[in-house]
Amino acid sequence: MADPTTLALFSLFCCALYFALQRYQLRHLQSANPRKLPYPPGPKPELIIGNTRHIPPHSSWLQYTKWKKDFGDIIHLEALGKHIVVLNSYDISHELLDVRPTYSDRPNAPMLCDLMGWKGIVPNLPYDDKWRRCRKLMHSILHKDAIKDYSPALERYTRVFLSQLMDSPESFSEHLRLQVTKIDLCSPRKSNPSSNRFKLIVVPEDTIATATKVAFPGAVLVDTFPLLMYVPSWFPGAAFKRNAKAWKKIVLKMVSDPYLRVKADVDAGVAAPSFTSACLEDGTHDERDIMWSAASMYTAGADTTHASLVTFFLAMATHPDVQAKAQAEIDQVIKANNKLPSFEDRDSLPYVNCLLKEVQRWIPATPLALPHRAMENDYYEGYYISGGSIVLGNVWSITQDEAVYQNPKQFWPERFENLETAELDPYKYAFGFGRRSCAGVNFADALLYIAVVSILATFNIRKPRGENGEEVEPKVTLTGGIICRPENLKCTIQPRSDAAIALLRSIADE
Ligand code: HEM
Repeated sequence: MADPTTLALFSLFCCALYFALQRYQLRHLQSANPRKLPYPPGPKPELIIGNTRHIPPHSSWLQYTKWKKDFGDIIHLEALGKHIVVLNSYDISHELLDVRPTYSDRPNAPMLCDLMGWKGIVPNLPYDDKWRRCRKLMHSILHKDAIKDYSPALERYTRVFLSQLMDSPESFSEHLRLQVTKIDLCSPRKSNPSSNRFKLIVVPEDTIATATKVAFPGAVLVDTFPLLMYVPSWFPGAAFKRNAKAWKKIVLKMVSDPYLRVKADVDAGVAAPSFTSACLEDGTHDERDIMWSAASMYTAGADTTHASLVTFFLAMATHPDVQAKAQAEIDQVIKANNKLPSFEDRDSLPYVNCLLKEVQRWIPATPLALPHRAMENDYYEGYYISGGSIVLGNVWSITQDEAVYQNPKQFWPERFENLETAELDPYKYAFGFGRRSCAGVNFADALLYIAVVSILATFNIRKPRGENGEEVEPKVTLTGGIICRPENLKCTIQPRSDAAIALLRSIADE
């Protein structure tokens, strides 16, 4: 075995070689810019390392949004030969990411995909045939009409959540997480929300949490220097490799165990109806496509919907007037106080629908969507975007755009109320862009609606109370990885009335 000094020298040599290749590639791409147009503006790069030090590893959307004032709606950064283009307005994000198919690819992410084992997950797949097959499979159960079949199951699961909320309101975030996980995995006809058969899949949350932290450019060094992947695990400073190895084992188990269980049930003729069993029984699909599509729906769906629901709790705790207005609308429509709102009531609840949009805008769950990759050189309004660039639609910046939203910091559902003067609908960007936009948007929307309307019908959410019983401002921080969620939120959650308590008790007894 080589001694550590030789290995250190070898690693240095690899880094230098990689860097030289990047510079060569850069020059090559520049020569592929026949119009000789400039890159979009951006912070001045430093010698050799470019903008590497300018890109924050966490909550980078905040810095990108600040730069909008200095550099505008399209910004270029270069980190050790990697080109990053940030789009800071809806119009540009729409024009490039929604309209031009060349941005439908994903950048290669060695840490996440190769080392941590997330390569097969749909959000990480390159724009190829496997991705198309998986999107088609998922579409079969996630398109708008198919979602209607889920209504009874979603209502059932929400009722379980409500009774848990009555029993231990202080654990609302944990209850929410468990419910969105179960709901995300439910099949339209499955009928036992209390079942703990999902345990296997709930376990690796921390693995998913880690994945959401490293998924952006600049978050980990190995993404900038992919050759570091080949550093031996025992090498000093290679803890990332040791950790990744352990995570990979868990990820692959998380993906394969539920699949193998359903497959065994299908073979034995005892499978409960589910996405996986239906695809297997169909018999025409690649097994790996089925397995990774099922895992993708769980991993992409649970954390995001959980984040939106925690944001909803924060909004209600801090905006009692909005809460009261939404509750009055619900009371008006439901009339009887011994039943919960259902999907059928949705069209009669315009203010609640505005509130749902405002939840997506106020603190978007995915403030940079997911990174896209330009498959070829492109031009936009006199600027050059080189093929291979990572392109980020800055959702956060769109939500804060004063040219689009009045008082963007304020939680104010009224901005969407009047159809003629309504501000930009967040559903046009909060779920991402173009062909890579969220595959589960209809499911997420249905889940959020039924949860929000049922909670509002039965509970009051208020600010937390201090030592003397007085209301105090909730202290929250926002998470800064791929998912943005208020953390450590405390609030006071109480049934709205005696009738609500009776209704919740009857649900608990069901
Ligand atoms: C509030 C909830 C959700 C939000 C805010 C959200 C947001 C997003 C965003 C921003 C993307 C990336 C889009 C882009 O690259 O431009 C995405 C991708 C994706 N989402 Fe969601 N999502 C949510 C819920 C769900 C649910 C419930 C599911 C599944 C049941 C799901 C499945 C997926 C999948 C499979 C992708 C990858 C799409 C691809 O790369 O082709 N999402 N989501």
